[in-house]
Amino acid sequence: MPSLEEELFPSTPGKFKDRNRHFHRCFASTSTMFLWALFLIAITASYLCFQSFMDTGNRYFSATWGGHHWEKQVRTSAQIHRSNGMSVLVTGAAGFVGSHVSLALKKRGDGVVGLDNFNNYYDPSLKKARKNLLNNHNIFIIEGDINDMRMLTKLFEIVRFTHVMHLAAQAGVRYALENPGSYVHSNIAGLVTLLEACKNANPQPAVVWASSSSVYGLNEKVPFSESDRTDQPASLYAATKKAGEEITHTYNHIYGLSITGLRFFTVYGPWGRPDMAYFSFTRNILQGKPITVYRGKNRVDLARDFTYIDDVVKGCIGSLDTSGKSTGSGGKKRGPAPYRIFNLGNTSPVTVPMMVGILEKHLKVKAKKNFVEMPGNGDVPFTHANISSARKEFGYKPTTDLQTGLKKFVKWYLSYYGYNQGKSVK
Ligand SMILES: NC(=O)c1ccc[n+]([C@@H]2O[C@H](COP(=O)([O-])OP(=O)(O)OC[C@H]3O[C@@H](n4cnc5c(N)ncnc54)[C@H](O)[C@@H]3O)[C@@H](O)[C@H]2O)c1
Repeated sequence: MPSLEEELFPSTPGKFKDRNRHFHRCFASTSTMFLWALFLIAITASYLCFQSFMDTGNRYFSATWGGHHWEKQVRTSAQIHRSNGMSVLVTGAAGFVGSHVSLALKKRGDGVVGLDNFNNYYDPSLKKARKNLLNNHNIFIIEGDINDMRMLTKLFEIVRFTHVMHLAAQAGVRYALENPGSYVHSNIAGLVTLLEACKNANPQPAVVWASSSSVYGLNEKVPFSESDRTDQPASLYAATKKAGEEITHTYNHIYGLSITGLRFFTVYGPWGRPDMAYFSFTRNILQGKPITVYRGKNRVDLARDFTYIDDVVKGCIGSLDTSGKSTGSGGKKRGPAPYRIFNLGNTSPVTVPMMVGILEKHLKVKAKKNFVEMPGNGDVPFTHANISSARKEFGYKPTTDLQTGLKKFVKWYLSYYGYNQGKSVK
């Protein structure tokens, strides 16, 4: 039996030859193993890349659309049940305004198909609850993203939408400090993708979409009129809405899309948005937690032109009814189409402490208030709408004051969150 030394240093040249061959064989098998290892690493890395791509994709593009059953649901939901009715694609249908507008359209016999990505900017279970409510009224909401061009193309192939009510967006002013990309994703990239799909559709739908009062930014002339300057946004949110107004103008100009932009002023009401002050104040007051009330410079109270949801819904429907037709087809403009912008506000601003006082009265609980100077995070000190254009064009006339509107909101809140079933107020 060769010693270990012999194994390493052969005693005869012949033996050495043999060993040499053995050594080469060994070396050859080591390099084969090395190549195999490389191959395995490459396969694993590609798999991981694919997985992360799928994850990112899924976050935005849910694969829950398509197929015979899906198409049937879309067609049924889009069916019109009145003469001269419309067939409307409502984006952001699981959102606050979108769910109300969808229901109102459906109730008068229009066809409605909803679209929403159910993102978790705020509690998605509230979006699911709104979806269930809409399902009960035979409105189908597609779970998908407005950036998903394949899905949108398919959708416009299945249904000849007469109108698109575009309400999907990344809302909220302060969240832009945390997640600026989400504003670009939904309010810029998503808007362009949706407009591309609308422009390609045959016939082209008329588009009514939600801009925002935030475009008035640092404007100090009150009340805010549509012709006032809007080139001084105070937040990224406002900037993306302003960009949306310019982008929609381009699609109107080049492709003949009928466009109506609606500048909403602090919309509130039942099924509202948990990130908004009136909503989070209600939650905190009921839970016995303090609320932070911002003040402007020199302790000036902030004020908002709070607009009740039913009034905004009437404004949305009035806009849809008077939108005028898009003129293009097959991606080509055939003539000028309407381009309109309207304020949808209430015309009577209320200070935030007054709003808190109304909540205290309806909740029958005193709030623990912390007054803090407004940080420079994009909020503006006041908003106040001039609504004469919307009144002239489609008879827009808000009828609900903050007292009445918040009473309805509180009633809904207490019932939705189980305070009527014995859940106690702290
Ligand atoms: N509520 C207000 O006071 C107010 C004021 C001014 C403007 N607006 C605008 O009105 C519209 C509706 O607002 P809201 O209060 O109902 O907000 P919301 O957040 O309740 O509704 C928006 C919905 O859009 C969905 N969405 C977001 N990005 C999407 C995407 N990329 N693809 C598909 N769905 C997406 C969200 O999941 C959400 O359900 C928004 O455009 C908002 O910017 C609202």
